[in-house]
Amino acid sequence: MTETARKIVEQPVAFLVSGTELAKDVYSEYGNVLINQGTVVTQPIIKKLETWNIQNVSIWSEVTEQVIADPALQKFLNTYNQSVDVVEQAFDTIRQTRMLPLATFRKTADDLAQNLTTAGNVIDQLYNLPPCDDYTFRHSVNVSVIAGLIALWLKYPPESIHAISLAGLLHDVGKSLLPPKLVNRPHKLSTDHYEAYKQHVTLGYELLSKVPGIAESVRLGVTDHHEREDGSGYPQGLSGTDIHPYAKIIAIADLYDEALTINRDPGMLSPYCSIEKLQHEVYRLDPKACLTFISHMTNFLTGDPVMLTNGSKGRVVCTNKRWPSRSIVQLEDGTVLDLNDGGDIRISHIIR
Ligand SMILES: [Fe+2]
Repeated sequence: MTETARKIVEQPVAFLVSGTELAKDVYSEYGNVLINQGTVVTQPIIKKLETWNIQNVSIWSEVTEQVIADPALQKFLNTYNQSVDVVEQAFDTIRQTRMLPLATFRKTADDLAQNLTTAGNVIDQLYNLPPCDDYTFRHSVNVSVIAGLIALWLKYPPESIHAISLAGLLHDVGKSLLPPKLVNRPHKLSTDHYEAYKQHVTLGYELLSKVPGIAESVRLGVTDHHEREDGSGYPQGLSGTDIHPYAKIIAIADLYDEALTINRDPGMLSPYCSIEKLQHEVYRLDPKACLTFISHMTNFLTGDPVMLTNGSKGRVVCTNKRWPSRSIVQLEDGTVLDLNDGGDIRISHIIR
């Protein structure tokens, strides 16, 4: 688990960015105060510092440190691992009986929803679990957790958060009735196989329709999760307000987690790249939900130890909210690199 604290860091003026807060007064060579501590740096101030030939300034930086796992974290990880197992068994049950064990899914979703506050603190760590062959089950649990978190951050009432967590857990339940070769790595499928893969939405709808007592909002959260704002989604090509709000939240959680859990392409294996993928797709998603998610997630990324695409190791000292893979990184030798300076180096992945 990680904990974030504000610390004073020496920063070369060459790597100073707007929005940074000065932690100490800046003096001229004659001892006069040029800029007061507490000033938030702007581009004109950076220009003045360069003109005055100031080399370094002291700034406040968010620093994340490893701390001992607490009982709440352990409880969440236990719930998480149990949920993956329960979903795997439930998919088996569906294959054998063609019936959805709703009570099992509901209990699991409620357990996950009750641990969301802890989940928010460890969500980036879920992607450092060892590779496995149960991606579909992990993906279902991850989408439940992430969709629940988005609902929490959007200030939905508790009953809606539980419903969204349940819809997230069920969103791909139709995959239980597809051949396994279609389920993993859908982006690698041929056109014909991809069309068959898309049937998982209809199969999920049919399973849910047979279950009495399931809320309409949960059912629509599942059946609309591949619909998109501009009508480019499937299966119905719905757009705008015709798509249920729960499905719009699940779509964001699904896209974010898919790149990290199911498609696992080298180069996409970091939250930094996955967030950028969402930013490219924002016009097809609910903008408020998407930007709320991105804003919260980028806060978690400050302080992460990372590997860069050139093989260097460092720590993120300031997250670039627009292009997270181009954040400001302090290398092991103390050098600070702004990866948004036009070069080709990017953050590759988080080191644990
Ligand atoms: Fe899906």
